[in-house]
Order: sequence, then C-alpha cells, then structure tokens
Amino acid sequence: MVISNALGLSKEYMDKKMKKALVVVDATMGNGFDTCYLRSKLDSKGFLYAFDIQKTAIENTKKRLIEKNIYSNVLLINDSHAEFKKYIDKDVDLIIYNLGYLPKGDKNISTSSESTLISIKSGMDILNYEGLIIVTIYPGHLEGKKEFDVISEFLKTVDQKKFEIMKMEFYNHINNPPVLFIIERKN
Ligand SMILES: C[S@@+](CC[C@H](N)C(=O)[O-])C[C@H]1O[C@@H](n2cnc3c(N)ncnc32)[C@H](O)[C@@H]1O
Repeated sequence: MVISNALGLSKEYMDKKMKKALVVVDATMGNGFDTCYLRSKLDSKGFLYAFDIQKTAIENTKKRLIEKNIYSNVLLINDSHAEFKKYIDKDVDLIIYNLGYLPKGDKNISTSSESTLISIKSGMDILNYEGLIIVTIYPGHLEGKKEFDVISEFLKTVDQKKFEIMKMEFYNHINNPPVLFIIERKN
C-alpha cells in the first residue's frame, strides 16, 4: 500500500521535517509515544518541548524517555499548549498535535476547541520559515467534532501568502475517521 493510516501519514511529514529541525514541540504529550519518537529523531544540538495538562502524562513520558536513555534536551511541561509563549522563546521548526483523549485514559480529559485554537494560532506565530505544524483531529467524538469545525473554519481564513495549509482525510472510511491538517510557514 502507498497510502498509510493517519499515524503513518503524520510520521512521514514528521520524518521529513526532523532531518533539519532544531526546535520541536509535542503539544499533546499523553503517554509519550510521540514525544519519544520525536526525541529519537532529534539532532544532538536540538531541543524538544512537550506539553500536557495531566500530571500522569509527564510521569509516564519521563519514565519512557529514561527507559530509552533519551531523557536529555527535553522539557516536559505540565501546562496547557495554549501557553506556548510562556515557555518557548525560540523559533520552532515542528509542532505536532494528536488531539482528543488518551485511548486508555480519562475520556473527560480531552483537548478542547477553545484552547486548541489559541494554541494553533500562537504556534503559527512562533513558527520558523518553512516550519511545520501537524494536527491530527478525531471528529468521531463530540468535542472532537467541535474542534474539527472550529479549526477548519479558522484555517480556511489564513493568508495563503504566509502559510500553505493542506487537509488530508480518508474519504471512504466509515465512522468519522481522523483528519490531518499540515500547516507550513511560507515567509
Ligand atoms: C490523544 S492524547 C495524546 C497521545 C500522545 N501523543 C501519545 O503519544 O501518547 C491527547 C492528550 O492531550 C492532552 N491535553 C488535553 N488538553 C490539553 C491542553 N490544553 N494542553 C496540552 N495537552 C492537553 C490530554 O491530557 C491527553 O493526554
């Protein structure tokens, strides 16, 4: 198969960007799978910021990074991704969002349309030239549908001279499949 699933597609774009990325952000740390993946691809001079509002996410991710012997050049932040600018004072090459709730965690602790929108807007402000934001949205649950509507509406209004924005969806899948937005800064 040439077409992969949402996770695979997002990894393809991450991998392309990680070849040159120095400052990288995981906006939704969760159990740390994506944080570890990004850290494993990071240049020795690079730095990774990861955010989550759940303390357990920080603990699980730290444990995972230590186990893999890659707990360096990383800051795990127990705060909302709406607060990027409080912690990051550098231009960023890559930001990833895997929205929603943790698959085996508390479904009531989900990302929300309000803070996700604030976060994506501030992420776009701190993005480097040719920097990339990858957003995976799951419209199959109530808050995810709201997030999808709010984010889609906003991204449609963004100046195409400043950002290239691509939407990828699995057109013939049933049950509201995930949707990917790829945002790239042009100037
Ligand atoms: C689908 S999970 C992320 C999975 C993660 N990428 C992994 O590899 O395990 C979404 C995560 O977003 C977190 N989250 C919810 N609202 C947030 C916010 N405002 N800022 C940062 N993280 C948030 C949740 O606590 C949850 O852990």
